Amino acid sequence: MFRSKVRFSYARILNEFQINFAYEFRVKAMTMRRNIISLFIWVTIVAIFAIHVIISRKKNDIKTISERSITEVKTTILERTESENIEKVKNNPMKDVVLKTETTKGMYSRELNDEDKDLVGLKNTVNFTITTTTSKLLRHGDANLHEENLKTEIIKLKNENNRYKLSNNLLMQKEKQLKNLARRLASKLKGKEGGLLPKLDPSLPWIFAITPTYSRYTQKADLIRLSQTLMHVTNLHWVIVEDSSYRTDLVSKLLVESGLSFTHLNIQTPPHMKRRRGEKYNKHHRGVLQRNLAMKWIRENVNIAKTPGVVYFMDDDNTYHRKLFDEMRKVHHLGVWPVALAGGLRFAGPKCAKGKVTGFHVKWGADRSFPIDMAGFAINLRLLIKEKPEVIFESTAKRGYLEPTFLEQLTTLDQLEPMANNCTKVLVWHTRTESPKESLKGEKEMIKMGRPSDPSIET
Ligand code: UGA
Ligand code: MN
Repeated sequence: MFRSKVRFSYARILNEFQINFAYEFRVKAMTMRRNIISLFIWVTIVAIFAIHVIISRKKNDIKTISERSITEVKTTILERTESENIEKVKNNPMKDVVLKTETTKGMYSRELNDEDKDLVGLKNTVNFTITTTTSKLLRHGDANLHEENLKTEIIKLKNENNRYKLSNNLLMQKEKQLKNLARRLASKLKGKEGGLLPKLDPSLPWIFAITPTYSRYTQKADLIRLSQTLMHVTNLHWVIVEDSSYRTDLVSKLLVESGLSFTHLNIQTPPHMKRRRGEKYNKHHRGVLQRNLAMKWIRENVNIAKTPGVVYFMDDDNTYHRKLFDEMRKVHHLGVWPVALAGGLRFAGPKCAKGKVTGFHVKWGADRSFPIDMAGFAINLRLLIKEKPEVIFESTAKRGYLEPTFLEQLTTLDQLEPMANNCTKVLVWHTRTESPKESLKGEKEMIKMGRPSDPSIET
């Protein structure tokens, strides 16, 4: 019973074992299958991830390379365009503009204009770079890929351009302020005396007007009239030479108060060269040493490269139309025109046609090589300073021949330049201030009586 029981038990155990084994085998097989599946899934995920990583890296590499190449291309283009433009700015012809005057106004505008020109140059560089970069980069490679970079680049350059525009405006404002300050300063300096300023224009040639003058009752009247004519003239420098051993207060004050640009000199005509009592009015030439001294000053002090212009001899008692000065400014060599109340006629001077002198309208001294009055010609500074630096007025010249002996040394008839509408307009009058005989006589009598006109009152 026990054995059978045991046998029975063995059988049961075996049976149970078999059952268990089959069951466990099934379970294990299932687990294994599940593991294999999950392993496969993992491997797949890892593989996908790895592939993704590799692909994205490759993409990044491509992107980096193309960005680098674009930057390199841009740099090359920018460098080239900048260097080209810097050359352009350096060679800017505006920089070579020769300044014609050295006036305060001229100097300010020269400095500031130079800076303006630099800014204009830089502005052009920026503008040029924008257009060049845009066009060249667009042509290069994939447009979509470069679009963003290009936009930022353009915005950057446009901002830079605006900055230059702003500083240019600022500079122009500063220039205006400076000019105003210069004007105020000049008028303050001159204000004490008269508050007048010389008329200046850096673009116009200068006129160097030479006037001999001497002391007499009518001197101030003549000089006041003349100075007030000259106040209307632009770019005029008045070289006034007193026939005296010193520069008088009367002339000095008159010049300062006029506000004109001037040089005040003096040289006395020695007695043997002057008219004595009983001598004919025109026994001696007048104002010869004075004009020669003025020419010496001009030759030593005027730089024709900086200050182009003409020389004109103005007697202190003639009458001058302001238009005459604009005529003589145009003279390149030696310009001529008629003079009213001269040469014993209503007017005398050159007869002209088609820009040439064809003859002379003259009564007195028709045999003169150049029958032209002192007030009837102007000489270009280049001729007087550079080409004929030795020519002066000859005090030994025959009476009435002062002008021809001077002009003969400077030019020939065919070189003369007719001015004043082919010599058909009269713009100067050889007026003469009459000596005030009554006043002279009366004053002498009053001096004798000890009751002269108040000497502290200037006339
Ligand atoms: C004429 C001419 O127009 C003058 O250019 C020329 O010098 C003169 O003749 C001459 O024969 O020498 P006119 O009216 O007769 O002129 O002479 P002024 O006007 O009396 O004198 C001409 C200039 O020389 C004036 O500016 C006058 O102030 C000056 N002058 C005159 C002197 O400097 N010193 C004198 O002793 C006299
Ligand atoms: Mn005169």
